[in-house]
Amino acid sequence: KAEPPRQAKREETEAEIDDGRKKITIFFGTQTGTAEGFAKSLAEEAKARYDKAAFKVVDLDDYALDDDEYEEKMRKETLAVFFLATYGDGEPTDNAARFYKWFTEGKERDNWLENLTFAVFGLGNRQYEHFNKIGTIVDGILAEQGGKRLVPVGLGDDDQCIEDDFNAWKESLWPELDRLLCDEDDMVSATTYTVAIPEYRVVFIDTANSQPTEKSWNLANGSSIDVSHPCRANVVVSRELHAPASDRSCIHLEFDIAGTGLSYETGDHVGVYAENCLETVEQAEKLLGYSSDTYFSIHADKEDGTPLSGCALAPPFPSPCTLRTALARYADLLNSPKKAALSALAAHASDPNEANQLRFLASPAGKDEYSQRIIGSQKSLLEVMAEFPSAKPPLGVFFAAVVPRLQHRFYSISSSPSMFPTKIHVTCALVCGPTPTGRIHKGVCSTWMKNSVPMEERVDCSWAPIFVRQSNFKLPADTSVPIIMIGPGTGLAPFMGFLQERFALKNSGALLGPAMLFFGCRNRKMDFIYEDELNNFVEAGVISELIVAFSREGPTKNYVQHKMAEKASEIWDIISKGGYIYVCGDAKGMAKDVHRTLHAIVMEQGSLDSSMTESLVKKLQMQEDCNKRDQI
Ligand code: 2AM
Repeated sequence: KAEPPRQAKREETEAEIDDGRKKITIFFGTQTGTAEGFAKSLAEEAKARYDKAAFKVVDLDDYALDDDEYEEKMRKETLAVFFLATYGDGEPTDNAARFYKWFTEGKERDNWLENLTFAVFGLGNRQYEHFNKIGTIVDGILAEQGGKRLVPVGLGDDDQCIEDDFNAWKESLWPELDRLLCDEDDMVSATTYTVAIPEYRVVFIDTANSQPTEKSWNLANGSSIDVSHPCRANVVVSRELHAPASDRSCIHLEFDIAGTGLSYETGDHVGVYAENCLETVEQAEKLLGYSSDTYFSIHADKEDGTPLSGCALAPPFPSPCTLRTALARYADLLNSPKKAALSALAAHASDPNEANQLRFLASPAGKDEYSQRIIGSQKSLLEVMAEFPSAKPPLGVFFAAVVPRLQHRFYSISSSPSMFPTKIHVTCALVCGPTPTGRIHKGVCSTWMKNSVPMEERVDCSWAPIFVRQSNFKLPADTSVPIIMIGPGTGLAPFMGFLQERFALKNSGALLGPAMLFFGCRNRKMDFIYEDELNNFVEAGVISELIVAFSREGPTKNYVQHKMAEKASEIWDIISKGGYIYVCGDAKGMAKDVHRTLHAIVMEQGSLDSSMTESLVKKLQMQEDCNKRDQI
């Protein structure tokens, strides 16, 4: 991350005056902004409730520059609230990684948090194995080290309505904070507080009189390339992998990274910032009631430079720019709106009936209706805005409180730098299908990839800001170790990289251990992606056995796990020799079924009882966790 903003923020913190008020620090570890939003909203409401306390919202990364400073400052905290998201395979978010490492791996400390009273709200998703791991672990250590827990750790579940979880947890927190922060006679819990809707300052620019240059992405500028400083990469190849007769689509895309300074390793992920398609952007412009060439700049501070309350410290995106650019690049228009967004829409609905309905949907009493009408029917923000056409928030409110920032998407890289050092390949299935309301939902990034125009076709080709995220999905260091790869559908992607690396290794004289590849698709003629490439790898001795399950060719489903059961003794042989097993693809369905099959194979082939099998598979999996597996 760039140093200047961090230093600026630190100075501001240190310049604080001790006015005798009780200090409460609200920390957040956020990836997509939800934890940060909750932290800010708690602070806003708390400020309204308790005038004898001072609340400060702190990004965990900005809190301290090194471990010593973390310790020194944390020892001085007396009341702290943590909002901690769990990400990917049970990992902390990028901005909480340094804190988490220090906090969990630090040297022996005894009861060093005796002076601290704390509360933790975790953000996670129950569909994943390590549900709310980070929040739970931090909560446990805080208590273990002498901290006094105000309320049980909140377990926010993004699979359901995480805002409801947050609100319920917050309600349990107020009485506890009342006890600490209020005098007996001015207990405030019974009172309801309304929090102001945040609004960025927007300045419209008259393009008739001046010709401003549009600010673009914060691209990496000779410095390191990361999520906040991606690099611009041209699309050089974009090719359909399914047969023309297939009713689905899967794209093979190649980004050119020559001269960008970006490099990658086999098995890494690429983060891609895609744009909304024109149809979506035009719909949003209409609903907002602005023309597409509206030119504006957006600010998180007042004209005199003081910060706007409730807003982030930095503006939400680079400006000046046109509304078209802002909506295409930075606005998440197709996910369901959060309750806070509905409240903001309600505040700007000119029709009182619409305002009431929106307010009800956002209220605790409207919980069921919200979950059925909005979440259950997968209504997009645009659909909701179309349903309540009188709600026309100004742009400053729209970008601060209604529309979340469009997030980058991660893909497993399907190439290896040993064969393609200046290219990053992606294998992407098009997300396109009807929602319960009959809307055809088109995934933002896959639609962008599908519509992209490659350099092969036009010099003025499509491009995207991209960056690489390291992964632990790696081939064994010892090339002679046998491996089994299981990857149906686009789960094949990282294995294409593995196979290219093995091909390069073989050509350089390395001794390769056996490699089985289990692939699954519906039908040989329709969606057997990379068939020729895979056959060439078999011929070259890079794959020792290619096993393909076609699920829709016969009367019954034939899946990779059925093929695995047929190959039970070979699989057991590889496991017994210390081989590696890799699974990639749909984590909810296929990966669980494959796991069960593996369990059955180990039990039967190893003549083990159920508990011995469980512990062996657990052991395999533990090695998997730290060596090579990923949930992508
Ligand atoms: P299906 O669509 O015919 O059910 C790639 O998507 C392949 O994975 C398809 O052939 C798909 O089959 C199959 N698949 C779907 N669910 C699966 C599961 N639970 N286990 C293994 N393969 C599965």
